[in-house]
Amino acid sequence: MGCFEIGALWLMVTIISIHADPSADEVQGECLGNRVQFTLPGSLSAGGPLELYAVNDTQTVLLTPHLAAQCGYTQKSDPLGNTIVSASLQSCYAEKQGDNEFRVAMQFKPYEFPTLSEKVYEVFKFCSHTVSSREILCETNYMEVSVRNAIPEIKTASVKQLPTVIPNLQLWRILLYSPEEKSFDKETLQAMGYSVQSSPTRLVMRSPYNTLETFLQNVDDVDMMVFKSVVLFRDRWMMALVESAAACPISGASFVGQMIYWRVPLHITPLVSLEVEILDVHMGINGRRLTSDEMESHNYTMTFNESHVVVEIPVGASDGYYKSHVLEGQYHVSYTIEPMLEFLWKEGQDETMYKVLFPITTPLTAWSPQVTDYTELELRVFDVFLGFFPPDVELLNITFGSEMLTVSEINIKGINLEEHSFPNNTKAFAVQVPFSEPHVQIKTFRPDLRTYVLDLVFGFVILPEHTAFSHSMVLEASSADTVLPHVGGSCNEDSFNIYIIYGSTPSSQIKIHLGHLELNEKILQQYEHHSNETHLVLIVPFLAPVVAFESVQLTGILGRIDVEIYDSLNNLSFNEFSLSCPFFVILSECFSNGTITVVLPKLESVPHLLPGELSLRDPSCKPSYSQDYYAYFHFGVTTCGTTRKFVEDTMIYENEVTWKRDAPFPETVLPDQEYRFTVSCVYIANATQNMILHAVSHLKEQHTDVGKGELTVSLRLSKDMVYRLFYHDGDYPVLKFLKQSLYFEVGMDRSKDSRAAVVLENCWATLSKDKESKPRWDLIVDGCASPKVPEQTIFHPVVADDRVHIPDHFRRFEVKTSAWKEDDESSESEGDTSVRRVFVHCDVIICHVDDTADGGCYKGCPEALNPDGSSSNRVRRSSGFSEEALQHVSIGPILLI
Ligand SMILES: *[C@@H]1O[C@H](CO)[C@@H](O)[C@H](O)[C@H]1NC(C)=O
Ligand SMILES: *[C@@H]1O[C@H](CO)[C@@H](O)[C@H](O)[C@H]1NC(C)=O
Ligand SMILES: *[C@@H]1O[C@H](CO)[C@@H](O)[C@H](O)[C@H]1NC(C)=O
Ligand SMILES: *[C@@H]1O[C@H](CO)[C@@H](O)[C@H](O)[C@H]1NC(C)=O
Ligand SMILES: *[C@@H]1O[C@H](CO)[C@@H](O)[C@H](O)[C@H]1NC(C)=O
Ligand SMILES: *[C@@H]1O[C@H](CO)[C@@H](O)[C@H](O)[C@H]1NC(C)=O
Ligand SMILES: *[C@@H]1O[C@H](CO)[C@@H](O)[C@H](O)[C@H]1NC(C)=O
Ligand SMILES: *[C@@H]1O[C@H](CO)[C@@H](O)[C@H](O)[C@H]1NC(C)=O
Ligand SMILES: *[C@@H]1O[C@H](CO)[C@@H](O)[C@H](O)[C@H]1NC(C)=O
Repeated sequence: MGCFEIGALWLMVTIISIHADPSADEVQGECLGNRVQFTLPGSLSAGGPLELYAVNDTQTVLLTPHLAAQCGYTQKSDPLGNTIVSASLQSCYAEKQGDNEFRVAMQFKPYEFPTLSEKVYEVFKFCSHTVSSREILCETNYMEVSVRNAIPEIKTASVKQLPTVIPNLQLWRILLYSPEEKSFDKETLQAMGYSVQSSPTRLVMRSPYNTLETFLQNVDDVDMMVFKSVVLFRDRWMMALVESAAACPISGASFVGQMIYWRVPLHITPLVSLEVEILDVHMGINGRRLTSDEMESHNYTMTFNESHVVVEIPVGASDGYYKSHVLEGQYHVSYTIEPMLEFLWKEGQDETMYKVLFPITTPLTAWSPQVTDYTELELRVFDVFLGFFPPDVELLNITFGSEMLTVSEINIKGINLEEHSFPNNTKAFAVQVPFSEPHVQIKTFRPDLRTYVLDLVFGFVILPEHTAFSHSMVLEASSADTVLPHVGGSCNEDSFNIYIIYGSTPSSQIKIHLGHLELNEKILQQYEHHSNETHLVLIVPFLAPVVAFESVQLTGILGRIDVEIYDSLNNLSFNEFSLSCPFFVILSECFSNGTITVVLPKLESVPHLLPGELSLRDPSCKPSYSQDYYAYFHFGVTTCGTTRKFVEDTMIYENEVTWKRDAPFPETVLPDQEYRFTVSCVYIANATQNMILHAVSHLKEQHTDVGKGELTVSLRLSKDMVYRLFYHDGDYPVLKFLKQSLYFEVGMDRSKDSRAAVVLENCWATLSKDKESKPRWDLIVDGCASPKVPEQTIFHPVVADDRVHIPDHFRRFEVKTSAWKEDDESSESEGDTSVRRVFVHCDVIICHVDDTADGGCYKGCPEALNPDGSSSNRVRRSSGFSEEALQHVSIGPILLI
């Protein structure tokens, strides 16, 4: 059965065409003592596999790995993709030519997937080698022994005339020791994978490792595989016997630090008797003997003691190579080198040449690539170097943050990626990524330090296995040239002036907390603000819900605004800022007809207050209006438990606003502070007039408008519809509820020219002092109520009294501010609906009244635009007046709750 298998291996092939040149020139053949070695460049087979054939005069035989080991051929490849084929000079197909000449010929055929190439390359090499009596070769895939087959000449010494007898000895049986003796004939042994070649002068026995008939023996602490045989030759009654044995080490390498130690026994006992004289020992690498100079330059050493020779090789020596591996997801390397030892020893007259080739691979060691960060902050480019890898590592892709790019995509994107090769056969990669790449994150671990962070994952593959592995790194570069965002502010008369300077942080990364609200675009639109790339200026009215009220006095309110700016990306607060401002605002008013009004805000110290639950001394006197933040009371001096007392010629009316909780607090809530507010009105008795009122809140100096010339016009806000008492400059901001009407009067106080008249051309309201600002609500357009919301503006007639001598010098109109709500889209946004701070502006024309009432100074308005019907802003400009007669008047701020 074995015979058939072997027969199939010894395959005959027909060569179609033989390309002896030019490629054969590229194939290096080298004689290395009793071996010959061919190096086939990887380029011939494009790094792919090759089929090998052994050739002699008559035969061309495909060398399978099995047959190669049986016949004395070895094939391996180096990391550069070259194929190295070596053959023993005693291999099956080597031809002996003359005493010391050998010719070894080979063919090889590259695979061109999916078929075998038609190309066949043939190479051969002549080598001379003086064969010793015995030669033992320990190749990586077989053990070979070649012994002189000196068949004795049998001389009939005593009988002169008889001729010398040369017996015709034929190989008869072979005894193998494993170690027990077994007997085989040659054919059986060949079929079992051994090789037996005998010629009249030489017997060659060869065995692959680990065959059944080899055995393991420990020689001076080194395990050796032994192939031992006795070959019997017979010629009828005569028999000769040749002993042959090969013993090859299979252990002996050890690793200490970065050194490889390889020890080989000096007395290989299965092969030698006790009286052995060692003539020569040589060390080599890759089958090639080295001179002592060569050894020294590579830091190889060879030391001897009584029992062993020890070869030391530094890991990483250039004759070996690194190989990459992935073990449990981790990158590892091993280092492989193939040292050789040659002994020449003598026993009696016989010399033995013993040669062992012994590839050593270090255990896998986990290996972290070396990362060198060459980033220079000023250049604003990450510059990283990743090395050093064996040539079997190939970079496939890099993941930048969350985006993976293949090597070719990286170059298209303009990211600089370079692969560097080094003389020690390693490679490395250099990548440059600008800070401006979207995958570079900016982090702020400390407010004054900006850190650029880039996550990189290098995706590699190991060739030829295509095993993938990756290497991740996080690059960081910190820049201290940061200008921190800053917030500050100042108190205005009736508002907070807050400014924010973004500094070097992108404004998109900055978030602003205004009180308890995060400032968004919608909320921002409710306030007067100015912004550019670097600054934000914000005017927050003091009654805005983001303002916390610390205390309330009759003279005004102490309000506080808290501003926090923070880095939304890193959840890091840059700056917290609090500004407390006193606002002198009249919260309570006392009217001459005995009505008292008071507006009371919610206080920060009483967070659970529901303004609607406030009441006067008489608990049934609840606010006339209330909201989340305010309560408005409107009561008479004789109602709601108001008390009165006389102090000299004054009368003092007093009441008190308190909070009597409707429902008790849940136990989990800490009780708030008490809320108690006293309202007083002082009326001064005047002998000639009935009463003149002075609310205690009127502490500020009162001004009267002083016109600059005869035709100076002023715009005033009346305290009521009677148009007798007006708010003065010091009273602003004036607080009003949206439900209250505003009564305006425009007038020339000092003119005595009865022919002059005042005409209101346009009147409108804005959120800022600037009359051109947006948004804007039109009140009077072209002398008539704004056609958009005609019902909001009502003209009132002016009649002469103590103050008004010439009614045409005055115009009066009432504005129902509640109508603004519908107009104002931003008021629908959550958060800040309850306060609006407005300024009112008018363009006024002073014209001459014609003699007849239907002249150019007069103009009617459509009925619809004049809901009052009877009275109107009826004076129109006359042709005799120049544009200079147009005057502009403004008033404000008026706070509308
Ligand atoms: C060629 O090799 C075969 C197998 O070893 C052998 O039988 C044959 O004799 C060899 N031919 C020559 C001419 O040496
Ligand atoms: C040999 O060893 C010496 C000393 O350790 C070292 O300086 C030198 O670089 C080494 N040579 C080689 C080729 O490794
Ligand atoms: C010789 O060296 C080898 C390897 O270092 C060691 O195992 C052995 O014991 C040594 N032999 C003697 C006789 O010192
Ligand atoms: C290869 O050469 C580079 C550059 O000279 C050196 O930095 C690196 O350590 C060397 N690598 C090995 C494994 O010798
Ligand atoms: C990227 O590289 C990894 C190797 O680490 C590999 O597994 C993956 O398939 C590669 N992806 C692409 C698209 O090349
Ligand atoms: C931005 O506004 C601030 C304050 O209003 C001003 O000081 C600054 O010059 C402005 N910057 C630019 C670039 O306009
Ligand atoms: C941000 O930080 C504050 C405290 O410093 C913490 O209470 C809050 O949960 C953090 N927010 C996030 C989104 O991490
Ligand atoms: C009383 O009223 C008259 C007339 O209006 C005025 O002249 C006088 O100053 C007032 N007296 C006081 C004490 O206010
Ligand atoms: C008193 O005057 C105020 C303000 O004009 C008005 O709101 C109120 O209704 C008046 N009260 C009475 C009782 O007339």
